[in-house]
Amino acid sequence: MSKSLSIIVGSTRTNRLGHSIAEWVGEQAKAAGFDSVELLDLKEQNLPKFDTPVPPQYAPVDSDEARAWGEKVASAEHLVVLTPEYNQSIPASLKSAIDYLSSEWVDKPTAILGYGYMGGAASARKHLADILGFLKTDLVPETAGVQLGEATVVDGTFAGSGVSADEVAAVQNVLSTLASK
Ligand SMILES: Cc1cc2nc3c(=O)[nH]c(=O)nc-3n(C[C@H](O)[C@H](O)[C@H](O)COP(=O)(O)O)c2cc1C
Repeated sequence: MSKSLSIIVGSTRTNRLGHSIAEWVGEQAKAAGFDSVELLDLKEQNLPKFDTPVPPQYAPVDSDEARAWGEKVASAEHLVVLTPEYNQSIPASLKSAIDYLSSEWVDKPTAILGYGYMGGAASARKHLADILGFLKTDLVPETAGVQLGEATVVDGTFAGSGVSADEVAAVQNVLSTLASK
């Protein structure tokens, strides 16, 4: 059966590395058994800062942007949520986008990948696992991180060739587990 993957690009800032890291994750996903990959880029979704009178658990957020975002997540077969680490956690752009939705997350086959300069975003990945667990996604228990540094950021650009063999194996393991769901 054909397997499709949607990768949520969690950072939105100017000069972010997130988009090129997501493209690299997409290549890894093809190697791990996914037939098609699309990026769900939060910069393109252009969601205003979360602000709704009723929590989304009780009523969907009533705006065109929120509906478009909700349909993308609801129709995704498998999700990777790709997060950088900002101040030991996930960026506000990603938390706000997660908060917009509720039922769309439930039972969604999902994996977490991160990147950062300290410990491959271990702290952000842990926070994200707590959030997505609370929302009852069907979460791959293992997460994996990419260490940013001299090997992986060259002239301000992400270099996938610099990712260590151990990290590639960990990313492959997470993606293979996700593909098996
Ligand atoms: C506001 C801010 C806070 C950061 N805090 C951390 C941190 O706590 N741990 C870490 O490893 N890297 C931290 N970094 C470095 C980022 O992980 C790195 O800049 C990464 O490229 C950010 O992802 P992006 O380029 O997709 O925005 C921080 C960066 C920013 C902008």
